[in-house]
Amino acid sequence: MALHPLVKRVLLTEEQIKTRVAELATEVAEHYKKNNIKDKDIVVVGILKGCVPFYAEFFMNFKQDVVMDFMVISSYLGGLKSNKQPKINLDLNSDIKNKHVLIVEDIVDTGHTLSFLKDYLKSRKAASVNVVTLVDKPGGRKIEFEANFIGFSIENEFVIGYGLDYDEKLRNLPYIAIMDTDKLKTWEW
Ligand code: XMP
Ligand code: MG
Repeated sequence: MALHPLVKRVLLTEEQIKTRVAELATEVAEHYKKNNIKDKDIVVVGILKGCVPFYAEFFMNFKQDVVMDFMVISSYLGGLKSNKQPKINLDLNSDIKNKHVLIVEDIVDTGHTLSFLKDYLKSRKAASVNVVTLVDKPGGRKIEFEANFIGFSIENEFVIGYGLDYDEKLRNLPYIAIMDTDKLKTWEW
């Protein structure tokens, strides 16, 4: 497989991701079963756009009759740095009052986005709010935050692929890789 020239090093292959996501879907389903939470009370909320490949893979493995919903939050201003004050650009379609919300996110970095989002969904009277993230970068935390279910914990580097972007690009790489940021200086899209 020819790698994209902006890749410094592949961290997670497509195969590794698929295997882990199937395990995660089972873990999460077991959590709800154990707590006697019925399918009809679960809403699976993807945070666009980064969640798309992960959400699709997760949802197909999550063998429950649950509702799909999405939100758009802007927390990155296009480049490599995250913004402290996340903003809701697209809100939920469904009423989540008394529902068990599962947030599906691509990556947790500073913790600002998900901490803000959890508070927001709780204020809308969700019965519970859990977070499943494909990737966690614990080294990037600026505030305390822990996802309930984590696919992979990685080093504190800027990563691309499998939904993760650089300036809206590279989301369609089938793997997750560390980006070669030095090459960006002379790179022409
Ligand atoms: P915070 O910092 O609020 O960030 O936890 C969550 C959002 O920031 C984006 N993010 C990244 N996007 N490569 C990316 O392509 C990265 O290494 C990275 N780290 C954070 C991402 O959109 C996430 O939802
Ligand atoms: Mg995101």
